[in-house]
Amino acid sequence: MALSKTRASMPAHTFNSSAPLTGRIRVPGDKSISHRALMFAGLAVGESRITGLLEGEDVLATAAAMRQLGAQIERLDDGTWVVHGVGLGSLVEPAQALDMGNSGTSTRLMMGLLASHQLKATFVGDASLSGRPMNRVITPLSQMGASFEASSVGTLPLMLHGAFPAVPITYRLPVASAQVKSAVLLAGLNTPGITRVIEPVATRDHTERMLTGFGAKLEVGEENGERVISIHGEADLKPMDVVVPGDPSSAAFFLVAASIVPGSDLLIENVGLNPTRAGILTVLKQMGAEIDELDPREVGGEPVADLRVRHAPLSGIDVDPAIVPSMVDEFPVLFVAAAFADGTTKCSGLEELRVKESDRISVMAAALTAAGASVEEQEDGLTIHGTGGEPLRGTSNSRVKTHLDHRIAMSMAIAGLASKDGVDIDDTAPISTSFPTFIDLLDGAAR
Ligand code: S3P
Repeated sequence: MALSKTRASMPAHTFNSSAPLTGRIRVPGDKSISHRALMFAGLAVGESRITGLLEGEDVLATAAAMRQLGAQIERLDDGTWVVHGVGLGSLVEPAQALDMGNSGTSTRLMMGLLASHQLKATFVGDASLSGRPMNRVITPLSQMGASFEASSVGTLPLMLHGAFPAVPITYRLPVASAQVKSAVLLAGLNTPGITRVIEPVATRDHTERMLTGFGAKLEVGEENGERVISIHGEADLKPMDVVVPGDPSSAAFFLVAASIVPGSDLLIENVGLNPTRAGILTVLKQMGAEIDELDPREVGGEPVADLRVRHAPLSGIDVDPAIVPSMVDEFPVLFVAAAFADGTTKCSGLEELRVKESDRISVMAAALTAAGASVEEQEDGLTIHGTGGEPLRGTSNSRVKTHLDHRIAMSMAIAGLASKDGVDIDDTAPISTSFPTFIDLLDGAAR
């Protein structure tokens, strides 16, 4: 089994000291919600329409895989995506390997979806994804009856043999992971009986919200202080129109950029503020960031607001580890904010960052050090001694290694905006996995 196709070019880019960020921008649709919208619409019988879908490579990998499984998915000229679902239980065996590119979410959620169907499927991915742990989903899905052929350490490429009927289980998550939770719930959709997931620590709840919207019978309760989600199979999903709000994880780069570049005053429209995702706002505000939430409203069953962010002096803080799940993807850019704060910022409880698209603790420690910041790496976190608002030196004669990780590339791009010599990034191509318009929006806002 081969790795997935790799991107042809590796465009390096230097991000230089920036003019103030001003005006209004709109970040693309939420990545987590976009994946789920395509998957669930693909399982419903009938036509669903999705607007605001993120058209990044990760989500396009999900669309391609759902097509291989029998869903009809079409993009209209106005940007609406129309999905004719194949129906739960009726997925077809893919003729070719499912190429998941860089996307852990596509892989783990699809593994769940397929685990309770009587078919075989091969999953491949790029070098980053092929190093990421899949045993966290293989373990519960095997308990439900699926079987897997993977490397001895449980990585891609792997072959899944689904089972129908699968066996409902009660699974207590050993790691705080929305992907593992979702994989088990999606397997439970096509499994007769009640499949339960116990979450000692709450993670993003887009799967629960959206599956309910598509007509699944799903209950969320609490037992001994832990969240318990029960899904009733075999479900019958009904088509639904989904409006995808802007991605708070993408907005985070601009929140930090405007906070650290003097003179900035930027409005970011339509940002999803689901409480299971909005930890970055809380932490930046604790550091002194000036962020106002304007016109709070609901879009597609998710809380949304426009965010006005103005340059402000930041102070170092100890980040409460309890907030980690609600901002797990935002730590690379939070480290950048901390590098400009007055004093020391300590982040702990970040073990999960070591198994993201890259080891985000050590890769960010190396990147920030190369740009002149003062950081200390711990097993479960990073301590950052800030400049007190002064620019960083920049990477003068070195180049930041991004290790196929979009969030490292974007975070260090933001660091470059407040640096003397600029920050040179080895590869900006991975940015397209989650935020294809990132560089254009940055150029537009800093004009
Ligand atoms: C995601 C869950 C998180 C997050 C990822 C998207 C999701 O991963 O890091 O970018 O859409 O469910 P984990 O569940 O592995 O923490």
